[in-house]
Formats: sequence, structure tokens, C-alpha cells
Amino acid sequence: MHNFRKIMDDLYNVGANDRRITLFENAHPVPRGMSYNSYLLLDEKTVLLDAVDPGIAEQFWQNLSAILNDRQLDYLIITHIEPDHCSQIPELMRRYPGMTVVGNKKTFTMLNQFYEVDLEGRMLEVKEGDVLETGKHTLTFYFAPMVHWPEVMVAYDSYSKVLFSADAFGTFGPIDGAMYADQVNFEEDYLPEVRRYYANIIGKYGRNVTTLFEKIAGLDIEMFCPLHGLIWRKDFHLITDKYKQWASYTPEERGVVIAYGSIYGNTALAAEILANKLADGGVEKVVVHNVSSEHPSYILADCFRYDRLVFASATFNAELFPYMESLLLDLKAHNLTNRTVALIENGSWAVASGRKMREILDQMKGMTILEQTLSIKSSVKGPDLEALDELAKALLAA
Ligand code: FEO
Repeated sequence: MHNFRKIMDDLYNVGANDRRITLFENAHPVPRGMSYNSYLLLDEKTVLLDAVDPGIAEQFWQNLSAILNDRQLDYLIITHIEPDHCSQIPELMRRYPGMTVVGNKKTFTMLNQFYEVDLEGRMLEVKEGDVLETGKHTLTFYFAPMVHWPEVMVAYDSYSKVLFSADAFGTFGPIDGAMYADQVNFEEDYLPEVRRYYANIIGKYGRNVTTLFEKIAGLDIEMFCPLHGLIWRKDFHLITDKYKQWASYTPEERGVVIAYGSIYGNTALAAEILANKLADGGVEKVVVHNVSSEHPSYILADCFRYDRLVFASATFNAELFPYMESLLLDLKAHNLTNRTVALIENGSWAVASGRKMREILDQMKGMTILEQTLSIKSSVKGPDLEALDELAKALLAA
């Protein structure tokens, strides 16, 4: 049975939620699942903007065929070739032999890498600013490389004033019935997963996000239609302000993230003592993460959110505790910048974790590492408490 959503007279979302997926990209936990949007425009020509992940293919076909009925599909616009939106392209080409695939040069290169399809006579290659007239609607393409892949482009429909924004403004998680951001408590119920999605999926390419904002600044937009999650039709600032902050790696608010890697609990105790001292000292917010048990995607999101970071790590095999190393490399890979950082190291013989953490952080731009590094020998003792006091004071003053 179909379960599509009508957005306006001639625009539908034929995507769906997948509540069985547990890891998006087989990397990021999505404990509640994931939504995939696919937009169908019924103009003089019929146009599908992106398809869906294999996990919801059956629902997608039900939705698509219910709306198209006996009509042919004239165009498939690929704003993003990642398989969570493109897995059904070979089948779309088979079912709709008159369908033309619209993409840019890079789209088609990657399409041929992923799928063995015969595009002879069925390709429309567009360039930046090119226009596709479909009847009443006029779609203009703006390239948005690396938001999230190199071939990404967004499409602006000047007739209905909709921006089909590809992965931009997407989210982890499903949508629960209400498909418009103005129907939900966005900040409470969706922003944390929108932030985690941004940080992990797009966070590395802030400069490109800023460029996209510059390109679309002059457009008269009444709706954002992203490929995952909520559709926006008002209060755009609730998401665009966040995107602009994240894209410039500006912290959203003051607060301290403490991430610790601890083997027997001694480094953890130092982290907990520091958290208490910060709270007692009046810090705006403190968040403590155990890197062994918490997925780095959540910690990365908090590092995008807050302005000060503490990394506390045991030494392990004369190296950095592996979960801490993994976290720091993840932060580096996502180009996190402009944060104040404090370090706590621990070791029982050849202490190495402080030096190893600093080596990674030194490769990141704009990281201010406080001088007050605490070095613990196996367990926290009296003098360490004084050092933690100093560290807390430095973080509060930073
Ligand atoms: Fe939703 Fe980059 O794929």
C-alpha cells in the first residue's frame, strides 16, 4: 500500500522512514532509524528528484507508481549520487524507458562507477546555473560540491519557490508523522540529531557550506526540501543560523566537553572531579563522555556545540588509549577548529598519552591548548587535586 505525502498540488514526497536500519553509512548509530525523502513533481513533464535507500525500496515503488498511475516518468534529477538516494536508478531506468537522467559531469562519472547502466541517449548533463523547464516549473541548478559529496547540486524551483537542498538541512532519525519543521518542537526534539548529522556528514566541509549559502542568498525561497528529515516552510533561521555557525566552526554556546578514556577508572575519576569543580565554579554547561562506551559521532556533535574541550586519557601499550586516538582523529578528519583544549594524561610507567594527544591536536587549526596539562601517575592523589583546581580555573577563565 502506498504511503506518500502531498506537499503541494503537484509535489509529493515518495520517500519513507526505515526504522530497521541501525547504522547510517554502516558507521553512525541511528537507534530510531532514518528517513529518506524523494520528491516527485507532476508538471507537464514528470520529474523525480532523487530516489531512496534499498531499505525502503518497496515503499518507494508503491508510492511512486500510485501517484504516477499510468504516466511515464520523464526526468530523474540526481542531486546526490550516494547510494542512500540512488540505489534504485537501474530499476528506474528499466521501468521508465523514456526517462532522462539529469546530473552534472561528476554525477555521471560516479553513476557509472556504482551502476552498470546504459545511459546512451538518456543523459542530460547540466552545468552551474543551467535551467530545466518542465511546464509551469523551472528548475535551476546550483552546484554544492562536498555538501556532502563532490557531485552534489541543489535545485531551485522558481515557480513554487522550493529549494531541493540535497543532504543540506537533513537529519539522522525518522520523522514521526509531522513532516514540516513548524509542526514539531524542532529545538527540543530534532536539533540534537540535526546537529549530529551535520557534524558527521557535512562538518568537514564548512567552507563549502558557506559557499552554498552565498549562492542561494538571493533566491526567494519558501521551502527547503532536504533528502532526510523535516521539510522547512517557515522560521528558516532556526536551521540556517545553526548551519552558519557550524560551517564557520563557531561554538553555539559556552560549555565544556570532557571526553575521557580510562582503563581502570582512575582517569575517569580525574574527569569526574574536574566536571564537579567546573560545575561548582559556575561553568555554563559541562558534558562528560566515556570514549569507550559512547559513539564518537555523539561526542563530535558536542564538540561542534561547545567552546572548550578536555581530553583525559590513559596510556595504553605505550600509546594513546585507542578509543581516544580514534575520537581525536575523527575530530581532526572533520576539520574542527577554534576550540580551547585542556589535556589530562595518565600512565603507570612510560606516560605517552599527553604527548600523543598533543601530536594530533597540533595538526588541527585554531586549537588553543592550555598550559595546565595534568599528568597523573596511575591514580589521582592530593597534589593532583590542586592541579585539577588550576585546570578548572583556567577553563572557567578561558
Ligand atoms: Fe543522504 Fe550523502 O547521502
